[in-house]
Amino acid sequence: MAILKIAQMGHPILRAVAAPVDPAEILEPGFQELLNDMVETLRDYDGAGLAAPQVREGIQVVAIEVRHNRRYPEAPTIPLTILINPQVTTLTDERVAGWEGCLSLPKLRGLVGRHRAVEVEALDRNGRPVRFCAEGFFATVVQHEVDHLRGILFVDRMDDLRTLAFLSEWERYWQTPAPTPCS
Ligand code: NI
Repeated sequence: MAILKIAQMGHPILRAVAAPVDPAEILEPGFQELLNDMVETLRDYDGAGLAAPQVREGIQVVAIEVRHNRRYPEAPTIPLTILINPQVTTLTDERVAGWEGCLSLPKLRGLVGRHRAVEVEALDRNGRPVRFCAEGFFATVVQHEVDHLRGILFVDRMDDLRTLAFLSEWERYWQTPAPTPCS
């Protein structure tokens, strides 16, 4: 396994639309190794999620996991979830605002409104179809990661760029009070 280099904002692959994965390739050793490397990279960088374009692979794969996360200490636990060719359907027009960061925009936080609940259809790491509903923080992470597959970064989703802050200043001035729902 290997820790992969993460593309930073400005790298063109972060603005490209990722290609679907051929399901016949999922069980191939090289592809499984990429999945393992993505998980190791996600854990090493304390991310909540990682999309393949962030490790300079223009394909529709995301890895999500949250356990005792130093970058998001308040976040609920999310078991390791690998999504291949994910499709996201919005389940509600209701949006909630939450602070987001991104390993491709290091040391930044911004307030982003996301749909509170989504349905996800994808293939898992064994190529089996999965379908589930995600709410709250999990729904936010899913929307953030799937956006990466469309060349969209969280700053594109911000309603007010004045909430964009460096982590050091965010911890000082913005961490409280808790985020409020979007209107
Ligand atoms: Ni990101």
